Amino acid sequence: GATVRHEAENAVVCDGQVESEHAGFSGSGYCNTDNSSGTAVQFTLQAAEAGTATVEVRYANGTSAARPADVAVNGSTAQSTSFEATGAWTNWATKTLTVPVNAGSNSLRLTATASAGLPNVDYADI
Ligand code: GCU
Ligand code: CA
Repeated sequence: GATVRHEAENAVVCDGQVESEHAGFSGSGYCNTDNSSGTAVQFTLQAAEAGTATVEVRYANGTSAARPADVAVNGSTAQSTSFEATGAWTNWATKTLTVPVNAGSNSLRLTATASAGLPNVDYADI
């Protein structure tokens, strides 16, 4: 089916603030999580059928260090990932995640596993 965009400013969880300070985002802003381990952004995504889905997370990391995160679907950690530096807060990149999904509604939660928190998160496409 068609790709559906889920803007982080509308996400069910943004452990921090929705901001619009750094240009280049989609929609009206992005989620800037607090810079601490355990902070999260959570989306609700629909899948037509059970199986494996490709999710594209757009983000910016203006520091020089990658920011690691756990990826949980429906409460179970599916994998770990890392959001590499993008060179500036106004440079946005896409991280492609392949995750297990149920038919219908799924929660996708990104949780920072290091003290810097998550990168700024713009959206998740599925
Ligand atoms: C800066 C930047 C924020 C970002 C933060 C961070 O404060 O303006 O958008 O979230 O760094 O290090 O996470
Ligand atoms: Ca932050």
